[in-house]
Amino acid sequence: MQKIFITRKLPNEIVDPLKEKFDVKMWHSEEIPMTYEELKTEAKDAHALWTVLSDKVDRELIESLPHLKVISNLAVGHNNIDVEAAKERGIVVTNTPGVLTETTADLTFALLLATARRVTEAERDLRDGKWKSWTPMGLTGMDVFGATIGIIGMGRIGEAVARRAKGFDMKVLYHNRTRKIEAEEEFGFSYEELDTLLQESDFIVLLTPLTPETKGLIGERELGLMKETAAIINVARGGIIDEQALYDALTTNKIWAAGLDVFEVEPVPMDHSLLTLPNVTVLPHIGSASIHTRMAMMQMNAEAIEAVLEGKETENRVV
Ligand code: NAP
Ligand code: GLV
Repeated sequence: MQKIFITRKLPNEIVDPLKEKFDVKMWHSEEIPMTYEELKTEAKDAHALWTVLSDKVDRELIESLPHLKVISNLAVGHNNIDVEAAKERGIVVTNTPGVLTETTADLTFALLLATARRVTEAERDLRDGKWKSWTPMGLTGMDVFGATIGIIGMGRIGEAVARRAKGFDMKVLYHNRTRKIEAEEEFGFSYEELDTLLQESDFIVLLTPLTPETKGLIGERELGLMKETAAIINVARGGIIDEQALYDALTTNKIWAAGLDVFEVEPVPMDHSLLTLPNVTVLPHIGSASIHTRMAMMQMNAEAIEAVLEGKETENRVV
């Protein structure tokens, strides 16, 4: 029987059907991640490896698993996997695009609104007993309705965020590797060079994958181009913004605020300097976290694994 190894405890209703055809082993905890060494040891006989986005699946790990045919990642992003190393060994890599698009766009917009209107800061103040009276200028934020949004990475989620922005009567600028002429014509989105987008937007939203090209895409120079009243929202990956440069820009009032669902190191260390700033709204990487979407993502992984192990074609191949 072919073996499947799952690196995090997943719901029985997703995993049980696979047990009828395969020998399935699963890590015991939903919350405690496996260490790299544990993963290497536990997965050594696996034909299929079902990973989460925090698992480091590098060349060394891939080359240590002699039977491996497929790696299926419970995420659309796959920067945690050495895709080239997998490809060289003929290992299929799959991810979960599409099913999480609208859910992640909802969260992106929620974070944008929360950042603009200081929602989490206001709630913290109330719970801390700081609500003494209604104040004319207390906790005032920025208007979203009618503002300009600049989306960097106009893919599936970027477009879904842009559609939501139209509902808020926002002017939509975007920057992408390739132009989206159809979306420009249908929805009136405007393509801009990166620097122009940074200079003209009130809200800048990052939605590219983390790749060698996008790592550090937003650093001191780019933050310096932003309006002093602008906010940056990152739901993509931590490494795309230089976090020290972001801290400096926020503390010297070069930009107004930031909303972050992702960090360079996750979970973000509790002594991270960005967590000390009231104008940073933070979330623990929950972009796709609705019950329906997470179940759909897992179903997609299960079907991909089954297909590859049975020698069939599968959609959603990264390679
Ligand atoms: P997608 O459809 O592949 O969109 C990514 C877009 O980024 C594409 O349009 C791509 O351009 C563009 N891009 C890539 N490299 C670029 C560069 N160097 N400069 C400018 N644009 C570039 O992916 P998606 O499904 O929208 O997901 C996007 C990312 O969001 C994922 O990779 C993941 O990291 C992140 N994400 C986070 C969460 C969360 O929980 N926070 C949830 C889901 C996704 P082309 O059109 O030329 O390919
Ligand atoms: C989440 O971050 C994903 O890439 O799906």
